[in-house]
Amino acid sequence: MKAAELRKKFIDFFVSKNHAEIKSAPLIPDNDPTVLFTMAGMHPLVPFLLGAPHPAGKRLVNFQKCIRTGDIEEVGDKVHLTLFEMLGNWSIGDYFKEHAIKYSFEFLTSKEWLGLDLNKLAFTVFAGNENAPFDEEAYNTWLSLGVSPNKIAKLEANWWGPAGTTGPCGPDTEMFYWTGSEPTPEIFDPENPLWVEIWNDVFMQYNKNEKGELEKLEHPNVDTGMGFERVVAVLNGFDSCYDTELFVPLFEALDKFRGIEKPSERTSEERIIIDHARAATFIMAEGITPGNKDQQYQLRRLIRRMLGEGHKLGLAQGFALPIAEKVIEMFQVYYPELAKNKEHILATFEMEEKDFSKTLVRGVQMFEKAIQEEKNVQNGVLSGLVVFDLAQTFGFPKEMAVMMAEEKGLKVNLKEFDEAFKHHQDISRGASAPCGLADKKEETTALHTATHLLHQALRTVLGTHVEQRGSHITAERLRFDFSHPEKVSVEDLKKVEALVNEVIQKDMPVICEEMTLDEALQKGAIGLFANKYGEKVTVYSMGDFSKEVCAGPHVTHTGILKSFHIMKEESSSKGVRRIKATVGFVKENA
Ligand code: SER
Repeated sequence: MKAAELRKKFIDFFVSKNHAEIKSAPLIPDNDPTVLFTMAGMHPLVPFLLGAPHPAGKRLVNFQKCIRTGDIEEVGDKVHLTLFEMLGNWSIGDYFKEHAIKYSFEFLTSKEWLGLDLNKLAFTVFAGNENAPFDEEAYNTWLSLGVSPNKIAKLEANWWGPAGTTGPCGPDTEMFYWTGSEPTPEIFDPENPLWVEIWNDVFMQYNKNEKGELEKLEHPNVDTGMGFERVVAVLNGFDSCYDTELFVPLFEALDKFRGIEKPSERTSEERIIIDHARAATFIMAEGITPGNKDQQYQLRRLIRRMLGEGHKLGLAQGFALPIAEKVIEMFQVYYPELAKNKEHILATFEMEEKDFSKTLVRGVQMFEKAIQEEKNVQNGVLSGLVVFDLAQTFGFPKEMAVMMAEEKGLKVNLKEFDEAFKHHQDISRGASAPCGLADKKEETTALHTATHLLHQALRTVLGTHVEQRGSHITAERLRFDFSHPEKVSVEDLKKVEALVNEVIQKDMPVICEEMTLDEALQKGAIGLFANKYGEKVTVYSMGDFSKEVCAGPHVTHTGILKSFHIMKEESSSKGVRRIKATVGFVKENA
């Protein structure tokens, strides 16, 4: 089964069951400060899973690009990927458990679709715990389809979500495929690695709130996810995604650059290079540049790790370019942003590589100096904090430090490194509680506040037909899409800008209040998915100028923004205009 065929079959199957195909959302989540990257197909759909109506309807299907950087240290083995795609189907308050399972079963086993041998399939369902009961309905539905009870395991671990710290979650049922060459065992043992998970149906019955409590959702939803690369591997008899047609051409591009024949075995260095180059290419396709914070930091980290591995293999400069070009060529049909940003991607790889050579020279010097200091090395073990500092301050890769330490007969305290790293990640993720200001996300927070001011200023200047159609914030700028039938004139843009600046100069306090949705609407609060927050909502007011239903975070008073600048006004789609803008606070901190 070809990758393209699997992708198409999945979409076609669910379209034949009245699902609307929706586009993959960006990797950088819109307005979700609790995570850095879209990490599951359901993630961009959270507002809808919480009750907002989706414009495409109640049944959706798509493939979604996702990034998980939590496991980055594991990349290099045969299974871990930083960037992956997920095939998924959703019911937003439409069908539930029984239907979802029947669809999964039909897609997997019907000759018309994947036609997998039922004998090679096994399933897990939620066993129940103190929070929620055994998922009897899922269990019985599998039985009713002819699955043997020997092939269904009840596990407490069958629970999914939320994607960030809060959000929809619930019990799930997972589907496994037997990949052993010997006949399928009579009894399913989920611990046996030859049973590979291929699909996950999550039954989202709950919302985990800020207090960590599970609230029952009024309309339960279905969220399913099939790891695309893994399933392509399994269906083609490979035990690694890296052996599939999704990766082989990338390795070949690297072989060609190196002028070598295909080696009989791939090394972990090669896998890291391919994985990281692929992920970095996709991130840069969204216009992101490497930097020191958040997504930009993760991007730089990927590129640096990739360059470090290249250095180990003694690769010549520019080795990432043929890989990136191949990624763009292979995936542009599905993700047109790759081709659109090709120049930016290639130029950034080149620039980072030049910087990295300088970093290496400097890092090596700093490393030599650090190991001379007595406090840093004890009983032949180099402090992990030193290695973390080198990575953090100079971008000197951990792997390089470990390698150099080994050459000198030293070990590195990796536990210390991991702890420091984890701590840093927690801070930079800056999960925010409503009404609070997440301190490490000052730029995005300031821009979020500016978005509210812009929204209101547009309504004041252009009229109340202006409504938010989209919003996206990076550390550098805000992007705001709104309903308006024509180009906004230069005079009006100037008026809008001046109005926002006036409010900034008045240094109005930003007040956050909790109230019911009715109260909020009565007080004239605006907001996009006003009803997604349930009964109680948080309303942010900026003096008497703006009042908006929103989960925050915001700055404490408008003066923090310093000033407001519109950079661009353009068309987004029919009847929707787009403004990109930034604030003085961002410029000063850049
Ligand atoms: N959200 C679930 C997962 O990521 C199913 O889509 O596995």
